Amino acid sequence: MTRKILVTSALPYANGAIHLGHLVEYIQTDIWVRFQKMRGNECWYVCADDTHGTPIMLRAEKEGITPEALIARVHEEHSRDFAGFHVAFDNYYTTHSDETRQCANEIYARLRQAGLIETRTIEQYYDPLKEMFLPDRFIKGECPKCGTADQYGDNCESCGAAYTPNELKNPYSAISGAKPELRQSEHYFFRLSDPRCQEFLRAWTQRLQSEAANKLQEWLGGEGENKLTDWDISRDAPYFGFEIPDAPGKYFYVWLDAPIGYMGSFKNLCAKRGLDFDEYWKPDSQAELYHFIGKDILYFHALFWPAELVNAGYRAPTNVFAHGFLTVDGAKMSKSRGTFITAESYLAQGLNPEWLRYYFAAKLSNTMEDLDLNLDDFIARVNSDLVGKFVNIASRSAGFIAKRFNGQLGTCDETLPAFRTIAERRAAIAELFEAREFGKAVREIMALTDLANQYVDSVKPWELAKQEGREAELHAACTNALNLFRQLAVLLKPVLPALADRIAAFLNVAPFAWDDAGSVLAAGHAIRAYEHLMTRVDKKQVDALVDANRASLAPAPAPAPQKHAEKQEKAAAAATAQAAVGDDPHIAIDDFMKVDLRIARIAEASHVEGADKLVRLVLDVGPLGTRQVFAGIKAAYDPAQLAGRLTVMVANLAPRKMKFGMSEGMVLAASDPDGQTPGIFLLSPDAGAQPGMRVK
Ligand code: MSP
Ligand code: ZN
Repeated sequence: MTRKILVTSALPYANGAIHLGHLVEYIQTDIWVRFQKMRGNECWYVCADDTHGTPIMLRAEKEGITPEALIARVHEEHSRDFAGFHVAFDNYYTTHSDETRQCANEIYARLRQAGLIETRTIEQYYDPLKEMFLPDRFIKGECPKCGTADQYGDNCESCGAAYTPNELKNPYSAISGAKPELRQSEHYFFRLSDPRCQEFLRAWTQRLQSEAANKLQEWLGGEGENKLTDWDISRDAPYFGFEIPDAPGKYFYVWLDAPIGYMGSFKNLCAKRGLDFDEYWKPDSQAELYHFIGKDILYFHALFWPAELVNAGYRAPTNVFAHGFLTVDGAKMSKSRGTFITAESYLAQGLNPEWLRYYFAAKLSNTMEDLDLNLDDFIARVNSDLVGKFVNIASRSAGFIAKRFNGQLGTCDETLPAFRTIAERRAAIAELFEAREFGKAVREIMALTDLANQYVDSVKPWELAKQEGREAELHAACTNALNLFRQLAVLLKPVLPALADRIAAFLNVAPFAWDDAGSVLAAGHAIRAYEHLMTRVDKKQVDALVDANRASLAPAPAPAPQKHAEKQEKAAAAATAQAAVGDDPHIAIDDFMKVDLRIARIAEASHVEGADKLVRLVLDVGPLGTRQVFAGIKAAYDPAQLAGRLTVMVANLAPRKMKFGMSEGMVLAASDPDGQTPGIFLLSPDAGAQPGMRVK
């Protein structure tokens, strides 16, 4: 029986780049979907960009573009990155769509009708300068427990205390710096505490994987307890999102419309492919619906979402599959270590996306345990398993078929132990893929690959080829080896789809379906010329990848120091873009503290022969000594007037060799990028500051 299956991955936020952590999820889902399709099931994989919310609104504002322009650009970037890793969505859409809006309005109307929407006046911090209510992440202040400054509104990074923004001491807006005021506003709530939701969720959550079910049990509380609280689903203008139909100035909170984006994307696919939307979403649907997510968003997917769906007259998900988080070399991905690796940089460095797919597959299970990308292990494993074991079977046998047998295969001996074992293990491997136990599936397939290699080692085609009168044995050996290779390639196809397609092309057969692992190619079948299938990972490539991702405050060489500043600004903006995983457009104080800003006295200033923009400065930085800096300020300053004045410099910028000599830092100056107010304005400290003092 063919199953009808609808699969989703979480919708990535439209304000940040896809990184290797994200890819754990999209690769995991893609492997599962490809497996289902190879089995002949009708399986649809949809996703979209998650485009609404305050962070996206502010990000667009900062870039000086509309949110629409921002999300259009990011949609391109995300689509490109996913395609680069062979993540094959049937539809990659956007939540900022008519379909999603329609579904959101309808779900809201039905929940309202069911008496599950309630309004309540709440008190919330308001930024009087920016004229908007502040999300918790945008309020900072002193930790109420330990007094550490500059802590976020929800918890303290220093002592770990959790609290509400109202408890912060001396709060300020992270957007404008203004002191926020408490103001009242009417909000819309989804009544998750309603007994209907409780009762339904208590039963529905039983189906989840055990760790997730346990977590939910905690959230739900014991029998008779009611620990669920109502969920605030509205935000006040200004906001980028969908305005609530009967409530002008109120918008659906991004997490209300985000999962509805799954429906919107599928609805859009239905229109393109002539599919029946209701068949997948009606309450008694026989189709299966699965959401792949990270463990951080379990609450939204396993409580709010199913409760919303069933109370609005739709089916609930068949299951929600939560995975753990990626660490690199045993630690959280880090920009300073260069392990916060973007999908784009991985591909740009020329690394093969299927290496990563294989490595992730080998590490994945169906639990919420975190998984580690150990870079040395990555190199060793890919080289040994994929190149040393798997591809090696073909490279040791294909050439002889072409050279000695006119490209034609002989008769395959299916009684060989390796074929028999593959036949025995095939169903178990399918079950492991079905159960998302990819690590176990890969181990099984590699054990079969070892058997195939043992066969090749035992018959030694390269020796048979040198001996006269052993043509028939050579033909048989190479035929068996290539048939084993083909069966293994079928089993690996969900993980290595591009490689499997190239192998099918080389073997001159149609793209593999799962059952192809149970057959062999007929005697006389002609194959094509063998071309090298996969190269080894070179440690140098991985080192270069880490270097490329190391957020360096020393920018790349630029023609003049003020360009320097521009580039640095761009690098800083790019770094912020990467940091903005989830909804955090900020850098940590530690990031800022990496820039060593110092008061400097301009000891000498002179023209530079042959440079029309530069002034050569010798800066006295007190205890740090003197520094030579070439600054692009000639248009605005006469060197004669500069000597003796104080300014601010970056003292730990990597020195850079220029045509005129070494530049050992940078002075800070303001300028208007749009050129509305022409000029360059050097910074100066208030009276009393001494050369060498730290600026922070
Ligand atoms: N926009 C929300 C999801 C809305 S779904 C209706 C969101 N976006 S996200 O961009 O922050 O994350 C997208 C997915 O990637 C989430 O499932 C998240 O758990 C996953 N991951 C993000 N970083 C990750 C790691 N470092 N490791 C593994 N998965 C990670 O959440
Ligand atoms: Zn604290």
